Amino acid sequence: MMELKTPARHDPTAAATALPVAIRRPVLADAGTLESLARESEILDVNSRYLYLLLCRDFSGTCRVAQCAGKVVGFVSAYFPPAQPHVLFVWQIAVAKEYRGKAVALRMLMDLLSGLPDNQSFTIEATITPSNGASQALFQRLAAEFACPLRVDQGFPEALFAPAAHESERMFYIGPVVLGSHRGSMKEHTSS
Ligand SMILES: CC(C)(COP(=O)(O)OP(=O)(O)OC[C@H]1O[C@@H](n2cnc3c(N)ncnc32)[C@H](O)[C@@H]1OP(=O)(O)O)[C@@H](O)C(=O)NCCC(=O)NCCS
Repeated sequence: MMELKTPARHDPTAAATALPVAIRRPVLADAGTLESLARESEILDVNSRYLYLLLCRDFSGTCRVAQCAGKVVGFVSAYFPPAQPHVLFVWQIAVAKEYRGKAVALRMLMDLLSGLPDNQSFTIEATITPSNGASQALFQRLAAEFACPLRVDQGFPEALFAPAAHESERMFYIGPVVLGSHRGSMKEHTSS
């Protein structure tokens, strides 16, 4: 198991979480914004427009966008791997720079999870590069929400990305998560 440093909290105040954000499933017309948010993050791999269209069409049940004053300011994409129906793999998550630190990412994840069936035990997986402290903090916070263990292991080593220069991606495992018992305390994080 790999060691994980805990980054300092950057803005955990109640005022920050009061940002009025509506969380919803993406629709086809959001695909371009998902691509732009990925590009503007300067961290995420930018996928093709076609891929974002497929996410919005075929995986919208496990994807979310966050909308503030009519503008999409964040998205998360996730899916259940066909061979592992008890794993929710969180693929990409991005929040526009000016909206970060306001629990937008956490609220999207909690909204997505609140849409899954009760009393089903599953594991949340995500890969994160060692240099991405914000994303590590987000998933640490998610694990804390469910009082679940978080385990970090080797995911996709650098060599698998050759010839591209790409940091290794460590695999984060959160679980087992059982949703039913958590419904009540999710409310403060879901969309307003
Ligand atoms: C990672 C990202 C999605 C987080 O979005 P966000 O809306 O700012 O995150 P939240 O406000 O919901 O924060 C959730 C938790 O993570 C912590 N956190 C978020 N960004 C942080 C940072 N830069 N430093 C330290 N902690 C951070 C928050 O403090 C919070 O924990 P807490 O409540 O215990 O304090 C955003 O920084 C981003 O879009 N980054 C670029 C794309 C990216 O790296 N995606 C992930 C790839 S795996």
